[in-house]
Amino acid sequence: MFKKIKTKIVAGTSILQVGAHSETAEKVQGFYAKSPFPNFDDHASLVDLVDNKNKNTFLYNLKDQLGLGKKLIEVGSGTSQLSIMLSHGTNNQVIAFDATLDSLRLGEAFTRKYNLPNCNFVLGDLFSDPFEDEFFDFVWCSGVLHHTDDPEGGFEIISKWLKKDGIIIVGLYNKIGRLRTNFRQFIFRCMRPFWFAKKVIFFLDPIIRSQTSKVKKEAWFQDQYLHPIESKHTLSEILKWFDANGIGFVSSVPTCTSEQVNMKNIFKIQSRGSVLSQIVSQLAFLFGPNSREGGLFLVIGRKR
Ligand SMILES: C[S@@+](CC[C@H](N)C(=O)[O-])C[C@H]1O[C@@H](n2cnc3c(N)ncnc32)[C@H](O)[C@@H]1O
Repeated sequence: MFKKIKTKIVAGTSILQVGAHSETAEKVQGFYAKSPFPNFDDHASLVDLVDNKNKNTFLYNLKDQLGLGKKLIEVGSGTSQLSIMLSHGTNNQVIAFDATLDSLRLGEAFTRKYNLPNCNFVLGDLFSDPFEDEFFDFVWCSGVLHHTDDPEGGFEIISKWLKKDGIIIVGLYNKIGRLRTNFRQFIFRCMRPFWFAKKVIFFLDPIIRSQTSKVKKEAWFQDQYLHPIESKHTLSEILKWFDANGIGFVSSVPTCTSEQVNMKNIFKIQSRGSVLSQIVSQLAFLFGPNSREGGLFLVIGRKR
């Protein structure tokens, strides 16, 4: 699975460490160590995780359609709920891969508590390119590349890890869809003192308001308002990344046209639309309920 790269077990855990961190990954690890993301609810249990998946049409169908006997990786898994959920009750081999040890530790403790053997935790920097080419059937990378110096270069690396016919899902901040968050970020930066500005954001941000867990509220606040590295992207830009790396477009959320997203069959090929229809769709996304999630859009592809 790994390239010829230095690996060791992190003392006192089953987490495997691969390669060395770049300067930026060190910085990111320092940031998330203080507030691992997305973190667990105060009393989160395996039942809650399964329940969340069952209530989310996208995740429910994703897990179902991925099938069994597969090799999956979540790049930048944070506290790794998605990896844990995808591994649970399957014989899939899931790798939760992240640059922040403190985040992986929380996920690993959860899998130990519930005896979930097929989710494995790997600490490393994606830019050290630690995995073999064409190894995984499924690569998921959401909320990660826009926190790196070179999102496109990062995409090139992780798409190499995908087998022919394998599926990749990438989630990034959308240039248009994130404008509501950008407006709140602007208000936050204009206000003083810090404690007051933070209180205003806790009142304005819909995700913070809907959370009951204090640690999750704090993790979201840190990630959305204090992150040192953040970039934004468009559908047409990601389609160019896909073309350059031999990835065929399958679908996106939002779609590239006025078509509705078919959450029940996200692997059904959609139209790429035109630059104009993509802009209109991203504008509609800005005013729709999904832009609550910080304007994160998903693009799904299949390796040719
Ligand atoms: C916003 S969190 C997203 C966590 C998870 N994907 C989610 O959506 O809930 C970003 C994660 O990316 C990880 N990350 C950032 N740069 C990375 C890199 N170069 N290599 C591996 N992980 C990285 C961070 O440690 C952090 O846990």
